[in-house]
Amino acid sequence: MKTVATPRSARAPGLFLALGLLCLGTVSGPVHAEGEATNPAVRERMALMKDIGRNLKSIADMVQQKAPFEGQAAQAAAGTIAADAERIPAVFKPRESDPASEALPVIWEKWDDFVAHADKLASAAKAIDATSAETLAAGFRPMAGACKSCHDSYRMDD
Ligand code: HEC
Repeated sequence: MKTVATPRSARAPGLFLALGLLCLGTVSGPVHAEGEATNPAVRERMALMKDIGRNLKSIADMVQQKAPFEGQAAQAAAGTIAADAERIPAVFKPRESDPASEALPVIWEKWDDFVAHADKLASAAKAIDATSAETLAAGFRPMAGACKSCHDSYRMDD
């Protein structure tokens, strides 16, 4: 007996919050691996991810109503995420390691799938429509989902 409708709009902040937290764990939480990476190639890919993380957070804060909705800023952040996502294959291509890295070796064993995950994020970020808080929220879920699905397979657990 289905009497309860499933909320699927911006009026279900709990859902977004859950996704946001899963995705943003390393943005605001403690760093999993000890210390800073010293390998420049690893530093570069971590810096790229941090930039993606910062931009996603600025959108997540609006979606979760922790920050006022600002369409232009959200659209710009989505554009940065799309551009960053397109750089993921290039910065991850060299099979570099560092004690501080959270990248799993399976990245280079399933390279095409890894790249497909990066493409998925780029597409989701390009699809963001920040005309209103509602359209932004609708696009946020698939975008945050793209972070999580790649992290689930290719990054160490927090
Ligand atoms: C194609 C796969 C992939 C996608 C998509 C992806 N990530 Fe990552 N992310 C990784 C990997 C792999 C690492 C670990 C890199 C390392 O430590 O060498 C990582 C690390 C991070 C880190 C930690 C950086 C650091 O300095 O330790 C943050 C923050 C992050 N990602 C945020 C995001 C956000 C937010 C999204 C979505 C908007 C996202 N990522 C999408 C693969 C991905």
